[in-house]
Amino acid sequence: MKTILITGAGGGISRAIIPLLYKRGYRLLLTTKSSINSLTSFLSEESIDAEVFAADLCDQKQVDVLFDWVNDLGGADVLINNAGVAHAAPAWKLTVEQMHDLFETNFYTAVRCTQKVLTHMREQNFGRIICVSSVVAHKPSFGTSGYAASKSALEGYVRGVAIDTASKGVTANTIAYGYMKAGMLNDVPQPMLDEILTTIPSGQFGAAAQIASYVELLINSPYTTGQTLHVNGGQWMP
Ligand SMILES: NC(=O)c1ccc[n+]([C@@H]2O[C@H](COP(=O)([O-])OP(=O)(O)OC[C@H]3O[C@@H](n4cnc5c(N)ncnc54)[C@H](OP(=O)(O)O)[C@@H]3O)[C@@H](O)[C@H]2O)c1
Repeated sequence: MKTILITGAGGGISRAIIPLLYKRGYRLLLTTKSSINSLTSFLSEESIDAEVFAADLCDQKQVDVLFDWVNDLGGADVLINNAGVAHAAPAWKLTVEQMHDLFETNFYTAVRCTQKVLTHMREQNFGRIICVSSVVAHKPSFGTSGYAASKSALEGYVRGVAIDTASKGVTANTIAYGYMKAGMLNDVPQPMLDEILTTIPSGQFGAAAQIASYVELLINSPYTTGQTLHVNGGQWMP
């Protein structure tokens, strides 16, 4: 049974995929920053047996403690770097502090967790790093320069990780979501949602639960590494 560690597990997209991954037989280690109580209630309502740990991944000491916990539980075979934040602001209003926060949460949390998990993955000659990016890294919309920059950095980082780890049975890939009907999309005002919808050829927002299939595809694809998998209803094509 493979063990998956999911960061940002209290978030909307994560809650959509947790029940499916659990049903498919994966052991789940879940970490989130502040929504630990609601995540625990959610797991209990769904009758999901998973391990949960609260950590702010912007704090290296908390990441170190998190990985002591992960390693005590036998380590992770799969890491999903899903924690993220979005600050929408046009470039002339986006502050350097906001940009730092975007990079801290969307980029450095993944760097910290990847660095920690690779020790175990390299030792066991198997590992899957899956990072979560966005269509916005490729096709920004108004006010997303900071978010796009942080996710673009993440995709570049993953390609480098893929090279470094390829000889050790470890793959590193990114899934770039389009606009999924969950989580941070709920914070977008309706007029903006209506406008975004006109740019999606499929004419609908993505169903978050389908991400579980892409995670499983990457787990079972040893020859796929350094790639960005696009899931966006045709909104952007490489
Ligand atoms: N929804 C979409 O349409 C969409 C589209 C493209 C990409 N994405 C990406 O998908 C991922 C999940 O998004 P979502 O929509 O599910 O968003 P969400 O509901 O806002 O979830 C974000 C998660 O990140 C966690 N987090 C934030 N800062 C953290 C920190 N410092 N340390 C640890 N955890 C932290 C939050 O933890 P707490 O709740 O515990 O504070 C939350 O669980 C993100 O990376 C996002 O950029 C989403």
